[in-house]
Amino acid sequence: MPMRVRIEDMAVQTDEVKRLVAEFAIPSISVMTLDYLTTIDEALEEIAENCATGNISRVAFDDDTGEPVGWIGGLPTYPPYTWELHPLMVKPEAQGQGVGRALVADLEAQVAARGGITVQLGSDDELNRTSLGGADIFDDPLGALMRLSSTDNHPFVFYQKCGYKLVGVIPDANGFGKPDILLAKRVGHSA
Ligand SMILES: CC(C)(COP(=O)(O)OP(=O)(O)OC[C@H]1O[C@@H](n2cnc3c(N)ncnc32)[C@H](O)[C@@H]1OP(=O)(O)O)[C@@H](O)C(=O)NCCC(=O)NCCS
Repeated sequence: MPMRVRIEDMAVQTDEVKRLVAEFAIPSISVMTLDYLTTIDEALEEIAENCATGNISRVAFDDDTGEPVGWIGGLPTYPPYTWELHPLMVKPEAQGQGVGRALVADLEAQVAARGGITVQLGSDDELNRTSLGGADIFDDPLGALMRLSSTDNHPFVFYQKCGYKLVGVIPDANGFGKPDILLAKRVGHSA
């Protein structure tokens, strides 16, 4: 059953809320990478950077308990048109209940309201969770991308369900056989 959430700006939240987000960020992102956000201090620093002026940083609260359950950020990579979705993490206990989808929709609305037309993101495969993991794809990166499949619930499938298209791949982005899978979605309209 979907969880009812309310989504607010991260920047105006109390230190207590930011600490609760930092606490779930570590186990949440650990399925993606071994060396990003491994301590509370790193997670708090990332939250502070994400809240910097010009960025978008949003937090989802469980409507019933009032607890923070998800965090999404947006960075203006090609301002004002294109924003990078980074990061996205849902508290492990709250996953699979529509929180991620709600956060992505909220970010897209935030980007569109700022005149943005595209949201892009990179979804790394550092832990061999897709057909690209551990493979040498440099000979034919786009062919490998065309044949992409998930072998262990890789989140690119989640993004596809949210309407994102595969637009590229950076072979060996995080070391040999550890690519970054690029996706994007149109969220704004031409005038
Ligand atoms: C990936 C993540 C953000 C998804 O959020 P969520 O709240 O669990 O997802 P939702 O419940 O909103 O799911 C929406 C749809 O995507 C599907 N989905 C979610 N995660 C998926 C995954 N890893 N693989 C395949 N499908 C997935 C759901 O089944 C649902 O499908 P449906 O609409 O057909 O029922 C969340 O699981 C998470 O935080 N994971 C760990 C951190 C991470 O991987 N972040 C992304 C880094 S790029």
